[in-house]
Order: sequence, then C-alpha cells, then structure tokens
Amino acid sequence: MRFLEKAPTIKADMSFLDLEDSVAPREKEAARKQVVSAIRDFSWDDRVLCVRINAWDTKWTYGDVIEVVGSAGTRLDEVMLPKVQHASDVKALDLLLTQVEINAGLPIGHIGIEAQIESTLGLINVEEICSASPRLETVVFGPADFAASMEMPVLTGGVEISEYPGDHFHYVFSKILMAGRANGLQVIDGPYLKIKDLDGLRKYCQRTVALGYDGKWALHPDQVTVVNEIYSPTQEQFDRANQILNAYKNATDVELKGAVMFGDEMIDEASRKMALKFVARGQRAGMAGS
Ligand code: GLV
Ligand code: MG
Repeated sequence: MRFLEKAPTIKADMSFLDLEDSVAPREKEAARKQVVSAIRDFSWDDRVLCVRINAWDTKWTYGDVIEVVGSAGTRLDEVMLPKVQHASDVKALDLLLTQVEINAGLPIGHIGIEAQIESTLGLINVEEICSASPRLETVVFGPADFAASMEMPVLTGGVEISEYPGDHFHYVFSKILMAGRANGLQVIDGPYLKIKDLDGLRKYCQRTVALGYDGKWALHPDQVTVVNEIYSPTQEQFDRANQILNAYKNATDVELKGAVMFGDEMIDEASRKMALKFVARGQRAGMAGS
C-alpha cells in the first residue's frame, strides 16, 4: 500500500495498478481490495487510471474484473489484459465487462481495454487482436514476457543485446505499431528493467520514439522524468510544427495552393498531418508557442 500511495503524486499520463506479475499468487485476491480502495480514496488528477488484471490462462481473470470493476466506481478508466494471444481473449473481456458494467450501474462501454502483446502467438495475431473490440484504446509491448516466450538467450527483457548486430526487437516494434495505428490505437513500449540505468533507458527509448510510439512504461519516478522528456517533442520541433501548420493554412486558404515551399523544403497535406502529431503531443506536455 505504501507504494500505491505514491502513485498519484508522480507526473505520468497514465497509471496502472497491478494485479498480475508483481503480485504474489497468495496475495492476488487480497490485492483486489487494496486496488479498489486506491482507486476510490486517493486523489487522482486527470490521468488515465487503469488496473492490470491477470491473464485468461490463470484462475483469477473473471474475479479480478467482477471485484475491481464492480466496486471501483467511475474513476477507473481501463483494464489492461496481459498475455493476449487471440482476438477472442479481448472479445471475452469485452463481454464480461458489459455484464459487470450493467450490474455496477456504469455506462456500457465505460471501461476501455489495453492489450499487452508479449508472446509469440500474440504477435502473430496482433492484427486481429487490435481490431477485436471498440473498447480497445492501447496496445502495449511486453518485452520481458516476450523474450521468455521466444526463448531468447537473455536474463533481462527489454534492454539492448550488444552481441546482436542491430535491434533484436525491430520487427516486433514495427509489427505492433502498424497493427495499432491501423486501428487507431495508442501504441506503448513496455518496461526497462534496469531501473538505475537512466542513461541506458534514455538511449533505449530512442528506438520506439523514432518509430512513432506514443510512450513507454516507467517502473520508478526517476524513469518517469526521462520517459516524459524523451517522448515529448522538443520546443524546437513544437515551434517548427506550428510554423508548418500556419504556412500551410496560408498556402491553402490564401494562395489556394496545395504544395508550397517552407524554407528550403516543400510542404503539402502530408506535412500538415505530420505536424499535427507534434503539436498535439507538445500541447499534452504543456508546451506553448515560444
Ligand atoms: C511486461 O509485462 C513485460 O512482460 O515486459
Ligand atoms: Mg509481462
């Protein structure tokens, strides 16, 4: 509970309270009550609030949903389903959530779903998984379980493998990103387990920032600071994106042109779309024009 109390004070866009792998099997049922009290009693800001339930291959999934969603009230936004293997895992959760929402007096569809892709079968089926339910909001990569599922010769998931000539997860990152984006989902990278190695985290984040991921898990407040910094645009990128939007609006509305020069490069409708993403992310990070 000591750890849970800290959560609302940490400046993150989203917090999830875990019932899965960080909770010992004998504590699983008692943990549900603690999670419900944390949701109801702590003063959360406007962040997304989520609970990670146990996977369908355990005996706890339905109990987690009934007890936690049934008692948490409206402040709970989402549940995260780990180890998703098939689209039917998400569909089953969607059906169960509907019944629990009706019984708890919550609006149907109130609870969103985050799906963790962290097994070989999950990755093979990620395209169907990402379109399995309108409740889906986010797809998340789980590098530790994925490394175990692939039987990679590593003892720490989600860190660089220096012997590998390249990024051993590049295919995985790209495949999940494409499936998520094709279905309008947020796409998030999972944990970096070397908690004290902030330089390593900073460097590792660049892999998924460069591809277009929306963010990454943080396991410690120091990681939150690094992740917020790296996944937010720089002020320079934010300003340039705003300038592109202004220049392009002027081109289309005043000059009646679909493509114009912006400094020494040509901009068109695709440039506007790229710029919008920087502006939205920058605003979310609290940036204003300089
Ligand atoms: C997270 O759940 C992971 O397995 O990396
Ligand atoms: Mg996992």
